[in-house]
Amino acid sequence: MDNGSPAEGQSAREQELLDRVVASFDDTPDPRLRQLLQALVRHLHDFVREVRLTEEEWRQAIEFLTEAGRITNDRRQELVLLSDVLGASMQTITVNNPAYAEATEATVFGPFFVEGSPRAELGDDIAGGAPGEPCLVEGSVTDTDGRAVPGARIEVWQADLEGCYDVQYDDGRVAARAHLFSDDQGRFAFRALTPTPYPIPHDGPVGRLLEAAGRSPMRASHLHFMVSADGLRTLVTHIFVKGDELLDSDAVFGVRASLVKEFERTSEGSRVRFDVVLAPAGA
Ligand code: BEZ
Ligand code: FE
Repeated sequence: MDNGSPAEGQSAREQELLDRVVASFDDTPDPRLRQLLQALVRHLHDFVREVRLTEEEWRQAIEFLTEAGRITNDRRQELVLLSDVLGASMQTITVNNPAYAEATEATVFGPFFVEGSPRAELGDDIAGGAPGEPCLVEGSVTDTDGRAVPGARIEVWQADLEGCYDVQYDDGRVAARAHLFSDDQGRFAFRALTPTPYPIPHDGPVGRLLEAAGRSPMRASHLHFMVSADGLRTLVTHIFVKGDELLDSDAVFGVRASLVKEFERTSEGSRVRFDVVLAPAGA
């Protein structure tokens, strides 16, 4: 054969192997696990066959994953990073958060959320001394019928002007993260930092992959939110800065047009409005 496809006999041998591997999972008692494993095997074999994967390439892939596992620890999750740069994290979010009426869109969670953030009152400065330009953030939380959602829990976290989250420093600082609650009319306000661009960790195998592909590790400037309230779908999202040059090349494909906001210039820095609309739980 000179058209890149295997000869008929060869193709039959490959198919026979695939069929046997798929069948080996036929008796998996949990039907969902069976579906996942059999689909995984089918797609994996299709990939190997489509690109005619060499043994040396497979060895390199295993080495890559081994190294990603080796450098993963409590503060560094290289495999999540891999999922992020391949768009798998964002695709999983897209599949699991279908558009619902005017509900605010979700985007990637990222590795820098920390449970137990400090409690802030409405109007507080959550920067906690982190370097950066001040930004006033104001908004509201409503449901998709336009009803105010009082008492919604709003978690916010962001990188500082150095491009680092507090947890990336070794000194145990807690800064530029907090949680607060919407008031009795569903409104919220806090002071934070005007978001600035920063690179995802790129000193490991995922960084080398990006480099080999000529891709940038930079994330578009953003501020993270997680908003939750009884009976409503928890929203994990960011707001992005209108005019940011990185909006079209975010390393983890997190940008959605509806999340790009105008950060208006003020004498102190900037101000932005973010009105959050939550879908019903289970929507
Ligand atoms: C973040 O926005 O914090 C983030 C998301 C994905 C990978 C790395 C960082
Ligand atoms: Fe981030």
